[in-house]
Amino acid sequence: MAEFTLPANSIVKKGKSFPAPDGAKRTRRFKVYRWDPDNDENPRMDTYEVDLDTCGPMVLDGLIKIKNEIDSTVTFRRSCREGICGSCAMNINGTNTLACIKGIGETKGEVTIYPLPHMPVIKDLVPDLTQFYAQYASIEPWMRTQTPHSGDRERLQSKEDRARLDGLYECILCACCSTSCPSYWWNSERYLGPAVLLQAYRWIADSRDEYTGERLDALEDPFRLYRCHTIMNCTKTCPKNLNPAKAIAQIKKLLVTRSL
Ligand code: SF4
Ligand code: SF4
Ligand code: FES
Repeated sequence: MAEFTLPANSIVKKGKSFPAPDGAKRTRRFKVYRWDPDNDENPRMDTYEVDLDTCGPMVLDGLIKIKNEIDSTVTFRRSCREGICGSCAMNINGTNTLACIKGIGETKGEVTIYPLPHMPVIKDLVPDLTQFYAQYASIEPWMRTQTPHSGDRERLQSKEDRARLDGLYECILCACCSTSCPSYWWNSERYLGPAVLLQAYRWIADSRDEYTGERLDALEDPFRLYRCHTIMNCTKTCPKNLNPAKAIAQIKKLLVTRSL
């Protein structure tokens, strides 16, 4: 596990500047958080002038251009470049989002890029998501059943039951919501956070799953679930326009109604 993002006494220093290439007419300044915890005492912000006339339209295109043509040491994750894999999640101009679907034209002034907040940093824009994935595994994110499977056909559900999963199954586990949640910042070792709770509700809401009671029992805990104070940052930041706060409210409602 990497060390935590910023030691208490650390400061983000001004770093190196890389000017635009000669002849570039339309440029934007990218300020990128740089830190190698194994070798650097402090993080720094490096500045790159990117020629927009030879760059794709998204913030991720800018980062790839910087890495390919200006500074190959810049480190970030990406894979699908179309908002499906969740790996390019980062903080762009103050908002957690996916770099591959955030247009450079949607930003004003400098494009300032930090890693997802309050996570350990492995290097530059790459956070350590080990704990986040362990929390995801803890909710047993697969269908659990008791009745035997009838061999030659799928477990069916009605169209109405299937529709209850809309707004849940689309979650790509990018962690933008959890890392925007103040409750998760302060209690991330014990509070599951909005992404994992949305995923927990995805299985609770699935008519084919036969362990709803056990799933609710596992969440009924002052820290795992009830650290959510309905601050709503999660829902505001989700780049897939999902509503984790609503999913959390649904879990709380089910816990209340089953005890009546
Ligand atoms: S709910 Fe949205 S922000 Fe949260 S992990 Fe899923 S896709 Fe990402
Ligand atoms: S609604 Fe709950 S999960 Fe979402 S940001 Fe607020 S405290 Fe965090
Ligand atoms: S690269 Fe896959 S979501 Fe951005």
